[in-house]
Amino acid sequence: MTITIDEMASFCKRKGFVYPSAEIYGGFAGFFDYGPLGSELKNNLKQAWWKYHVHDREDIVGIDGTTVTHQKIWMASGHVANFTDVLTVCTKCSERYRADALIEDLLKLRTEGMKPADMDREIRTHHLHCPKCKGELGVPSPFNLMFKTFVGPRQDEESVAYLRPETAQVIFADFKAVTDTARVKLPFGIAQMGRAFRNEISPRNFLFRCREFEQMEIEYFVHPDKLIDCPYINEVLNHSVLVWSADMQAKKEEPRTMTIKELLDHKIAKFAWHAYWLAMEHKWFISLGAKPEHFRLRQHVPDEKAHYAADTWDLEYNFPFGWKELTGVANRADFDLQQHIKTSGKDLSLYDEETKKKVVPHVIAEPSQGVDRAFLVYLFDAYNDDKERGNIVLHLHPRLAPIKIGVFPLLSNREELTSFARAVFDELRAHFVCQYDKSGSVGRRYARADELGVPYCVTVDFDSLTNKDVTVRDRDTTKQIRVPVDKLAWTIHALMSGAPFAEQGKPVEVKP
Ligand code: GAP
Repeated sequence: MTITIDEMASFCKRKGFVYPSAEIYGGFAGFFDYGPLGSELKNNLKQAWWKYHVHDREDIVGIDGTTVTHQKIWMASGHVANFTDVLTVCTKCSERYRADALIEDLLKLRTEGMKPADMDREIRTHHLHCPKCKGELGVPSPFNLMFKTFVGPRQDEESVAYLRPETAQVIFADFKAVTDTARVKLPFGIAQMGRAFRNEISPRNFLFRCREFEQMEIEYFVHPDKLIDCPYINEVLNHSVLVWSADMQAKKEEPRTMTIKELLDHKIAKFAWHAYWLAMEHKWFISLGAKPEHFRLRQHVPDEKAHYAADTWDLEYNFPFGWKELTGVANRADFDLQQHIKTSGKDLSLYDEETKKKVVPHVIAEPSQGVDRAFLVYLFDAYNDDKERGNIVLHLHPRLAPIKIGVFPLLSNREELTSFARAVFDELRAHFVCQYDKSGSVGRRYARADELGVPYCVTVDFDSLTNKDVTVRDRDTTKQIRVPVDKLAWTIHALMSGAPFAEQGKPVEVKP
């Protein structure tokens, strides 16, 4: 069953995943705080991303740059001039709206690629007015999304700095430092994850569009003469995904499922590298339990592309409020390095041993992932209001689950059980994030654990005292097995790595 984004926000607040920021002061639109469970889940998600994209590969290294950034970075990148959304202001009540979002909401029209003048035309033709006071809407105009600040006690033009609106530019600004110090050789990538800030005109849909969020990004650099050689492409050729190219959108055709091989054979994607990274991002979500059918690849139509992009594809997810961008994968060519070469006057080229020439690498693909949007996707795909069990079950992948094991004594008032259960809990705690719970019936405790996505629960009963074994219950099937205490940590490690549940212990018959 699909729940709405508002229901998800309320579930997250109720269970301690995410809270609206500064709620005691009336809230702070576009800002959210992650609670005890949310911060664990988010950390697990980020670690999983880093492992898949950095540690498991030999061609990607990571950095961790600052969030307050030099203004020249953003002058060079074009963000000072171009990083805008289109704003329309009500001439009567002064309410501010993002013009494209307003048109999409009121007219159910797609606005990708529309310029401010096109939006103005839609507003006038369809007599759109301020949804709040019915006043006339002003002429749509660009609004820069960067948060500007001053560094140091002086507040003049020279001390202007920006909170970074993307992590990507810090990678470009550090390109020379990284290539001078890390032993990287083309093709290679530089990854970074961390906070980004955008003064969104209308933050909405909970974590989907916030003013402070996190990104996990890679700039993948290739030799400009070797844009078509992707040595890893065979790993993804048979991977299939729903595709909606710019051409299909122009011809008003429906998206089609195809393999990466077909995508390349039919020249729908121009570069194997670009197709490779699109497939890798889809595979990352699936590897952690997201449902493959909830994703599609959509190419940006020509007028929609960002100022830096030669070609962009989004990995979109079917959110309850429609198909929306989850991950952007742009081909930025050499736009950014050339801009930083021009603005800084520094040599950002690399020496090519083969041709004995200096080259400025191209970013053939920039997989750019919002942490908060990924967090939402994993929660939506895990969420199940299980009518048979009578409670919500969060089927989170064990690697993402904020709490891995619940430990329960069968009865809370029997010292021999609670002290045994505490000993089991202490042992498991050395390996996993665990929760000890002794309140209410065991059934109630299972239900509580299900709602938090705890994959395994361990119950200590009277047989445990004599047999030195415990019951392990699987969240997804509710099946139970009996496992010796001295093998428990090892067994849970095996289960976390995907070992079949039934083979890890003696089955326990569960009474209906
Ligand atoms: N460096 C390229 C870049 O930043 P983008 O499409 O503007 O491209 C990349 O952003 C990703 O960052 C998006 O696909 C989305 O996951 C996330 N993102 C962007 N704006 C966001 C916002 N206001 N709130 C939450 N996530 C956002």
